[in-house]
Amino acid sequence: SKVDNRYKPVYHFRPPKNWMNDPNAPMYFNGIYHFLYQYNPRGAVWGNIVWAHAVSVDLVNWKIVEPAIYPTKSFDINGCWSGSATILPGKGPAVLYTGVDSRNRQVQNIVFPMNVSDPYLRRWYKPDYNPVMRPVDGINATSFRDPTTGWKASDGKWRTIVGSKVDRMGTVILYRSDDFIHWKKASRPLHSVMNTGMWECPDLFPVLCRGKRGVDHNRHTTPVNHIDRCVKHVLKVSLDDTRYDYYTVGKYHEDSDEYVPNLNSIDNANGLRYDYGSFYASKSFYDDKKQRRILWSWVNETDLISDDIAKGWAGVQTIPRSVWLAKNGRQVVQWPVEEIESLRGKKTEMKGLKLKQGSRLEVKGVKATQTDVEVVFKVSGLERAEPFDPSWFSDPEKLCAHKGAEVPGKVGPFGLLVLASGNLTEYTAVFFRVFKYRSKYVTLMCSDATRSSLRSELYKRSFGGFVDIDIKKRQQISLRSLIDRSIVESFGAKGRTCITSRVYPTLLSDEKAKVHLFAFNHGSETVKISNLKAWEMRKATIVEDV
Ligand code: FRU
Repeated sequence: SKVDNRYKPVYHFRPPKNWMNDPNAPMYFNGIYHFLYQYNPRGAVWGNIVWAHAVSVDLVNWKIVEPAIYPTKSFDINGCWSGSATILPGKGPAVLYTGVDSRNRQVQNIVFPMNVSDPYLRRWYKPDYNPVMRPVDGINATSFRDPTTGWKASDGKWRTIVGSKVDRMGTVILYRSDDFIHWKKASRPLHSVMNTGMWECPDLFPVLCRGKRGVDHNRHTTPVNHIDRCVKHVLKVSLDDTRYDYYTVGKYHEDSDEYVPNLNSIDNANGLRYDYGSFYASKSFYDDKKQRRILWSWVNETDLISDDIAKGWAGVQTIPRSVWLAKNGRQVVQWPVEEIESLRGKKTEMKGLKLKQGSRLEVKGVKATQTDVEVVFKVSGLERAEPFDPSWFSDPEKLCAHKGAEVPGKVGPFGLLVLASGNLTEYTAVFFRVFKYRSKYVTLMCSDATRSSLRSELYKRSFGGFVDIDIKKRQQISLRSLIDRSIVESFGAKGRTCITSRVYPTLLSDEKAKVHLFAFNHGSETVKISNLKAWEMRKATIVEDV
């Protein structure tokens, strides 16, 4: 079947055709990065799910090898769903995944590489003793999935958690094992929260209190604690109810085998998000090559299912992001892995330009359909910022919808108009707006897709999140956007607030149409671009090697 590539990203990971959803078992092993993913080999809609498998040496260019796991046995004949890799010391990787069995129950299975010395780990075997965890003892057999990377506590036993729910209570069931094969359910879950619904794709990992360095789950108990003293943890869950990923910063307590979020952290669908846009089922891994923690996430299409079928493909992954704890300990910070900069080509730069009220400045000289743009905005006139109503704290997205890029303000809205047509009948606005609240300021970031396409039937939201910075002290704020045909990934204030949008400008249907990139300011206070750099991005190489 024909594949329509007009909207297909060129430097984000996506298979050449068909449907992709969750990232599975990302890992670094023996010099190779492995990325596996939920994939439908037969079409551009969800179904017939197998674990497709890609390998890379740089997280940018990928070789797609044969699927690693696909339905063959009674314990996974109705689906091979999400799971995670754990590198077993001295043995190599083991993958736990959810199988949908012949009775349509969700069970957890284990697989190992056939040959650990094959650098690509092409073939995997399923021991006959599967499944290794079953939905017994009152576990809901249709809400029991997505096992995490295992970790070992100081009692020498392995742990893993599996997403579930009990009525409306979201929960992660804890299992323990001596050998990673025989698993026993603990009497208490690692964590649960009332009225949050099914928790999909849980991810638990340690973070250092200071610095950008990542830490491995399986070494955090002794060496890391010893050297760095302060280690916290992050627990992320994907809420099936809202289809977004939420996390808290907290502490995993070994003695009680419980995860306890920090005091005052919001532990439900009003809580922190890695990304305030389209972003789901994310998963992290520890990259031993560069001692960092890397986060991947699925970004679904927001066009119509009929569009996906016509396009012949659906689903993109974010650019892998390094993730670490912010200095203030309240949240994580994310930044695209440095390797992606190897695709930067032609560059344009602007410095010291004023954006007066209502002005727009075109960024010229780079192809605006595939661009990496970094800009620093200097703000002024803060004392005249719009007043902030504290009731707005609970819903930044609503605030972005009310106060869009078109709505004039005082300090902002200012930012970028990306994937824009010359006459601005289509554009996606990524911008900030600063409000005054008591003696402080509140900074809002929006990624507004409401005018991204002339097609009215598309899902075009204005996403939003607050940015945890002291703008009064800094008097400036940065923005980086990775624009790649139908995806715009934006990083506010060096990755403190991130928002991803999918957009389908009709503009891209016309090969000859010119696509534009602008900086703008619709606030009464002048904003200065202290520095803007934009690079045209080259294509990543993603080839099948089966
Ligand atoms: C999340 C999810 C997982 C499941 C997989 C199936 O998107 O629903 O819970 O394992 O996708 O493809």
